[in-house]
Amino acid sequence: MYSRIISVGSYQPDNIVTNEELERKVDTSDEWIRSRTGIESRAIAKPDQATSDLAILAADAAIKKSGITKDEIDLIIVGTCTPDVATPNVGVIIQESLGLNSCPAFSVEAACSGFIYALNIANKFILSGESKCALVVGAETLSRITDWNDRNTCVLFADGAGAVILKPSEDTGIIYSEISADGTYADLLYVPYGTSRKPIHEKENDYFLQMNGNEVFKVAVKKLESIAINTLKKNNLTVDDIDWLIPHQANIRIIQAVAKRLGMPMEKVIVTLAEHGNTSAASIPLALDKAITDGRISKGDRILLQGFGAGFTWGTTLLTL
Ligand code: UT7
Repeated sequence: MYSRIISVGSYQPDNIVTNEELERKVDTSDEWIRSRTGIESRAIAKPDQATSDLAILAADAAIKKSGITKDEIDLIIVGTCTPDVATPNVGVIIQESLGLNSCPAFSVEAACSGFIYALNIANKFILSGESKCALVVGAETLSRITDWNDRNTCVLFADGAGAVILKPSEDTGIIYSEISADGTYADLLYVPYGTSRKPIHEKENDYFLQMNGNEVFKVAVKKLESIAINTLKKNNLTVDDIDWLIPHQANIRIIQAVAKRLGMPMEKVIVTLAEHGNTSAASIPLALDKAITDGRISKGDRILLQGFGAGFTWGTTLLTL
């Protein structure tokens, strides 16, 4: 028995911000952003759109494509680090919107690895028999914790959501999944103020993401390489056995460096950075949906998903679609 992704949906806000628009706000250039990150534009949520609003639209799209009725959903897990409010969690807000009122619904805070963490947990629920139909979402409004005057970060981050429906299946689905973390890296990528230790109201404007980009870059490349190698080894596979690599979309140079170290041709790597930017937990399901929609990925393909984010947290999911 496997758990299998039976459908994927995503949502990107209509409000597209180009590199040229950012040139007018901070000391940057389209050339710098493209060459250093691979990003050309990004979607930013409208002021009245919260993370759950994006998540619900992605979930609706996944439900529509799945052929299930929404009442079949018996588990909702959301990866996000930009929840609507401290509580209730985004999962509950999605649940209420779907008109479901008795299934577990919760969010997982693992930054850019949030979707991989959520998928890993949902997989275990399905394999244990506790869930027969899970909705797994990665959704973010990173624009709300981005300092739009800081060129080191504002050119990178974006908003969006992606969702999958997971069901038990006798056909191969999720083959392997692992998640991990190392909190000693916490101060390389963090938000200083938030809820408990340093409540936001104590200090204005210090709830923006802070990042040591160079150091994050180096660790990201090493971790993404090592988790891919570990996943392949544990499953007696080589890169030739993988049809598609879908890494977290943070920086084209990170993705290229990892692909090169793995010996994976870039033709087999899904890159959606140009139009998505870094949407944290939403980046992998957004990329998966895009690659299915444009016909690159099809049923039966073997795919390796890779997440890496603040914490640091990281993880992989190896699956057959
Ligand atoms: O999603 C979670 C994980 N996050 C990541 O994986 C992000 C990892 N890090 C990165 O993607 C890259 O480190 C960045 C894109 C953030 C930065 O790229 P970089 O090639 O590491 O640039 P840098 O930080 O070494 O900066 C090079 C220069 C600096 O100027 P000086 O000191 O050489 O004069 C920066 O001040 O580029 C400058 N710079 C910019 N210039 C124009 C930094 N940001 C910008 C900008 N526009 N937006």
